[in-house]
Amino acid sequence: MVSYKQLGLVNTKKMFAKAVKGGYAIPAFNFNTMEQMQAIVQAAVETKSPVIMQVSKGARKYANPTILRYMAEGAVKYAKELGCKHPQIVLHLDHGDSYETCKSCIDSGFSSVMIDGSSLPFKENIKLTKKVVNYAHKHDVTVEAELGVLAGVEDEVSAAESHYTKPEEVVEFANKTGCDSLAISIGTSHGAYKFKPEQCTRDPKTGVLVPPPLAFDVLKAVEKKLPGFPIVLHGSSSVPQEYVKIINDHGGKLPDAIGIPEAQLRKAAKSAVCKINIDSDSRLAMTAAIRRHFAENPGHFDPRQYLSPAREEMKRLYVHKILKVLGSNDKL
Ligand code: G3H
Ligand code: 13P
Ligand code: ZN
Repeated sequence: MVSYKQLGLVNTKKMFAKAVKGGYAIPAFNFNTMEQMQAIVQAAVETKSPVIMQVSKGARKYANPTILRYMAEGAVKYAKELGCKHPQIVLHLDHGDSYETCKSCIDSGFSSVMIDGSSLPFKENIKLTKKVVNYAHKHDVTVEAELGVLAGVEDEVSAAESHYTKPEEVVEFANKTGCDSLAISIGTSHGAYKFKPEQCTRDPKTGVLVPPPLAFDVLKAVEKKLPGFPIVLHGSSSVPQEYVKIINDHGGKLPDAIGIPEAQLRKAAKSAVCKINIDSDSRLAMTAAIRRHFAENPGHFDPRQYLSPAREEMKRLYVHKILKVLGSNDKL
């Protein structure tokens, strides 16, 4: 058993309470590789932001659980080496699919876990979430739960259509489970294809596709039922069109990739939404930088040559999100 406290990590409790009060959101960046982790830490230190480094079950398998534990410890030490005296770094399991996965993460140094029972009937979701909360809280680990279904792929869970969270269910769910934060469904979804072009309108000046707005009425109703309770938004990549263009101009094929406009996320971050999940944008930044690098340097084959600009681009993206979208800078 390795406690996250030994690794220098923190749970989300105080961080979320401050974010809800302060009207900003904590970045939750997914990572799979060392370069992503380095870029996340560099961005958090540079902007003096707390940060959640999160891994899906698939990412944990990809990286290896033992290596991850040392990466997390390394992230805290690296942040200090970069000049941050008191880094606030959370290692979080994203979309935990079972009690066993959550327990295994808690036992190997995670400071926060998500149990995603959103595809289960309401009562079963409560039962599973409660079981995870009971174990996690014994170890001072915080738990994120989910109510409502997001369209798209959630690791091994997938749904063709989204079902917004029902505000009338959230009080019973939060009280019966004791969860520390709640992911809700208000129109975001995972991946780089969040809307079909026919769901969007076209800006007459720029020709850019504008997706329908998020269901802020649902968010407001949830906030009213659970005042001050930490709310989480998944599927919150904006799918920057400059990255899509670089990828498509250099041999890629991402037709009609559409994300959530940043203005919508800025508005959400000012509310009880205190954790915003971003994965796809980092994947796009990395892929765009690598594709461009190979096109410009066809003779390169040393991974450091193409992963350095990829890491730089991801760091730029993370800094931008913190400063211009989430507002979590200067909070350490
Ligand atoms: O919500 C899903 C995350 O973007 C993680 O995706 O399961 O491909 O690692 P993954
Ligand atoms: P995106 O695919 O929009 O980046 O969402 C990531 C996410 O919600 C991870 O849990
Ligand atoms: Zn998610």
